[in-house]
Amino acid sequence: MSIPYGRQSISEEDIAAVADVMRTDWLTMGPVVAEFEAAVSELAGTPDATVVNSGSSALHCAYAALGVTKGDEVITSPMTFVATAATAIAEGATVLFADTQEDTGNIDPASAEALVTSRTKVIAGVDYAGHPVDADELMTIARANGAYFLEDAAHSIGSLYRGRPVGSLADVTEFSFFPTKNMTTGEGGAVVSPDAAIVERARRFRSHGLVRNKDEQRYPDEGPWHQEVHAFGLNYRLPDVLAAIGLNQIKRIAEFKARRASIFDRYSTELADLDGLILPAKRDYVDPMWHLYPIRVLDGRRREVFEYMREQGVLVQVNYIPAYWHPVFEDLGYKRGMCPNAETYYEQEISLPMFADLSADQVSRVIDVVRSALVA
Ligand SMILES: Cc1ncc(COP(=O)(O)O)c(C=O)c1O
Repeated sequence: MSIPYGRQSISEEDIAAVADVMRTDWLTMGPVVAEFEAAVSELAGTPDATVVNSGSSALHCAYAALGVTKGDEVITSPMTFVATAATAIAEGATVLFADTQEDTGNIDPASAEALVTSRTKVIAGVDYAGHPVDADELMTIARANGAYFLEDAAHSIGSLYRGRPVGSLADVTEFSFFPTKNMTTGEGGAVVSPDAAIVERARRFRSHGLVRNKDEQRYPDEGPWHQEVHAFGLNYRLPDVLAAIGLNQIKRIAEFKARRASIFDRYSTELADLDGLILPAKRDYVDPMWHLYPIRVLDGRRREVFEYMREQGVLVQVNYIPAYWHPVFEDLGYKRGMCPNAETYYEQEISLPMFADLSADQVSRVIDVVRSALVA
């Protein structure tokens, strides 16, 4: 039996919660969405949350809520899934890539600061592997330059930074609930912010930009049916059917975090003696909910080790090809060599299996296969 790199953990309660919603009038736009939003904002330590149908939608809503538009610049990390950049570009921004820290793979605040111009609208950090970015430094740089700090926390719901929950650190934070993530709704995501007005703008973008409140309408006397659009949005709504899974999953977040931490500790202890390998770094002021376990294979052996592990049924992954290596960026003139730390990190990286239901025997198997790959 092969071992995937990530997998959802679904309980009988998750399944029952979906069945319960299926028997109600509200498959979407109903009360479970609001309940799930309350649970997400409580975990994030924010006054409100908007849940949406993917992490990518959440990023798009977040950029829109910050007012990102043509002519703006967004500085982000290349060590991410392309959506972090693509959704800013969808709003008309130009994306600049800052280099990453050599050890954490997170955006290097000094490199981000060096890219700031009068057009900088957002500095978007990505909590790579679940390890929070240097949020205070990024916030300081953003504030000093009239920009916003956005945290792409697709990997890090449940993580803490200096004792504060991810979600409460940035002007706006995005979560993803894709099945491999720390908790799931099948597809899904959320936008949180310490500023309730930002969340409200994201919520409006999620639903076509529709203005239903008469006090805000330009033509409030049109009739009781009337709703109007002041700025375009899209349909990014999360159905109640999926919110029900999320509401149940979020109750298990401490259990998920503990399981991931114990897998992290076993890998870190039992792989520590191997030459030719760099294990993930952790700053002493963070308490990550680990989404990935990224090892780095030295001596140009990444591909060989990756292929060997896959042949052995350990379905490792690579996270990520530097975003600007995608041909779509290449065609826009982005050049390789721009962010040397990120490129080196990518060239060495392999993500080992990491998910709550990974058994102790499976962890042992992964460790054995890494060992045999390296001594081969
Ligand atoms: C860092 C990062 N940002 C954004 C996303 C987009 O999330 P989703 O797949 O839910 O759209 C992902 C998911 O792959 C991600 O890993």
